[in-house]
Amino acid sequence: MSRDWAAWHRDYADPGSDLSQRLVVVTDAVRAVIDGSPAGPIRVLSLCCGEARDLTAAATGHARAGDLTGCAVELSGGLAAIAATNLADAGTGIEVRCADAGRSVHWLDVTPVDLLILAGIFGNITDDDISRVVRSVPALVRPGGHVVWTRHRRGDDITPRVRQWFADAGCTEIAFHSPGAGKYGVGAHRFDGPGATTPVPEVVFRFTDP
Ligand SMILES: C[S@@+](CC[C@H](N)C(=O)[O-])C[C@H]1O[C@@H](n2cnc3c(N)ncnc32)[C@H](O)[C@@H]1O
Repeated sequence: MSRDWAAWHRDYADPGSDLSQRLVVVTDAVRAVIDGSPAGPIRVLSLCCGEARDLTAAATGHARAGDLTGCAVELSGGLAAIAATNLADAGTGIEVRCADAGRSVHWLDVTPVDLLILAGIFGNITDDDISRVVRSVPALVRPGGHVVWTRHRRGDDITPRVRQWFADAGCTEIAFHSPGAGKYGVGAHRFDGPGATTPVPEVVFRFTDP
């Protein structure tokens, strides 16, 4: 990795930053999924999780925190260690794996999940890769499960196409929140099935580190 992703996380220290505002929206979307989940384990897959702030914020103090299982995948060893501490302190059973999240071998064993979190990925991979990730949802998420994702809306805003791709993949949009053009977008979708008939690709995306 060439970019300093630990430094990228510093914007979270400013509650007025777009990143902090986005975190509130993502956290609310994650919490809504937890609140609406039937009793029992809630299996989660969070790719490129960074410090796992969204899951941590949603789980902290939540009565269902102990039901959260699955894994969060992060390439940076330092960030993965922080995520592991955060998720354990929040009372979850989510395992953190320090690995390339774009390669399905690192997380395929936990799928299909109840909740797939794709935050901070779609702005760092090609449009073709975004499309491939979304087309993989039927294999990654169990019918009735949810996806929470983010994508900035700078330049040529691709979020309308991403939302259509989710619809094409059998998903119903629960919410799409954005403060406006040029800012962040946060989507929440429910996968309505049927399950996948094709396997998950070995390489689902390649993170294009600037
Ligand atoms: C934009 S940040 C998003 C972090 C977190 N999801 C959030 O929204 O706060 C992108 C994260 O992806 C991680 N990353 C970059 N390439 C990766 C890869 N191939 N596999 C897993 N994580 C990766 C970075 O270290 C960084 O933590």
